[in-house]
Order: sequence, then C-alpha cells, then structure tokens
Amino acid sequence: MKQEKERYTFNAADFNEKVMKGHFKKIYPVIARQIIERTGITSGCCIDLGGGPGMLAVELAKASTLDVTVCDVTSECVALSEENSREHGVHERVSAVQGAAEKLPFEDNSIDLVVSRGSIFFWEDQQQGLSEVYRVLGPGGWAYIGGGFGTASLLQEILAEKADDPKWDVQRKERLAKNPPGHFEAMLLKLGIDGVVERGEAGMWIIFRKSSKLI
Ligand SMILES: C[S@@+](CC[C@H](N)C(=O)[O-])C[C@H]1O[C@@H](n2cnc3c(N)ncnc32)[C@H](O)[C@@H]1O
Repeated sequence: MKQEKERYTFNAADFNEKVMKGHFKKIYPVIARQIIERTGITSGCCIDLGGGPGMLAVELAKASTLDVTVCDVTSECVALSEENSREHGVHERVSAVQGAAEKLPFEDNSIDLVVSRGSIFFWEDQQQGLSEVYRVLGPGGWAYIGGGFGTASLLQEILAEKADDPKWDVQRKERLAKNPPGHFEAMLLKLGIDGVVERGEAGMWIIFRKSSKLI
C-alpha cells in the first residue's frame, strides 16, 4: 500500500530568506563537514537532492573541491540556488537542475556523493527515490540522506528562535514519527542496498555506499 505523504507547500523565496539565510544558516557548514568526515569524499561529482535554494551545496563546495549539482523539483529553487552560489563565489562548482528524486536526470554510475537534507520526507515515492540514488552512484560512491540540524545544541538554538511558532516543532516531530528508522531500513532491505539508518539527537540519516566493484 502506498504510504500517505504529507503535502508539501513551499514558498521558495520565503524559505531562502527566512529559513536558509535565517535561523538555519549555521547548520549547513556543520552538516557539510559531518558529511565529508563520514564519507571521506572531497572531490568528484555530488548531487544535493531536494537541495532547495542550495546552501548545503554551497557549504559542501566551500569545504571541498567537489562539483555540486542541486537537483530540486521546483524551478524557483533552481534559480535561487544559482543566485546563492554566485553570491558565495562558488558558482563555477555549484550548478542546479530541475528534477525529481523519483526520476533523477543523471547517468547510471556517475556520481561520487548524493546528499539530501530535509527532502525525503516529502518525496512521492521514497523507495523509488532511494533506488534512483543507488542507480546514479558510481563505484564506491556514498549517499547521505535524511534530515537534521548538525548538533543537538544547534537544534536547541533553533527551537529557542522558533519559540513563537510551536507548530514548527510539532510538525518536525510528527514527520520523524511517520518516518522512523525501521521504515527506511525496510526500504533498503527491499532494494538490496547495504546501508544504515542513524538517528541521533540532531537528526536522522540514511547512509550507504555502492560497492567499489561493479558486477
Ligand atoms: C524543506 S526543503 C529542504 C531544502 C534544503 N535541502 C534544506 O536542507 O534546507 C525540501 C525541498 O525538497 C524539495 N523536494 C520535495 N519533493 C522532491 C522530490 N520528489 N524530488 C526532488 N526535490 C523534492 C522541495 O522542492 C524543497 O526544496
């Protein structure tokens, strides 16, 4: 049975100004460092899937020599990503394309790292999206997909800043409750992907790597 999804309504320009460049600003460099430390990937091609206006992509590019493509289902995010990468001087290594997780506009076995923060909860078909991520990963390529705020203290800071909007934390917790680690572990199992789902105080991440030998 198809899982009922939360309907995602999104004002990309507002999200860019108030969230990405507002109270979430400090989480992206922290998450970028965590991804690089965990995967060891510092060069090659990376996709920031459902990257929105692209600040995780920008921070990944700043912390590495990766070429990062933001892939987002909305055209507004493509334009905002391009604007943000220019503003941060990384436009030569950060580009953006419109595309859905369920049908990624990338070749098989072509990508070194796929990251995605705060997006999988809204995908129409999460299993198909994960299968697509696996398809495009190159030999030895890594995926780091989920949601989080970097550290527990950054999450606490955001919660304090969001004190006037208690609905935000309620929705965040509902989303986590609807998407527990077991839900994604079962998907990985069905897809035959060897991966882990890590849930900590600051977020939840699905992490896997494609074999370095393609059969
Ligand atoms: C909450 S925003 C997160 C943006 C950004 N990754 C961040 O961490 O701030 C969710 C993003 O996922 C995108 N999105 C939703 N469903 C998608 C899908 N099926 N494929 C690609 N992007 C999707 C939305 O357009 C939006 O930009």
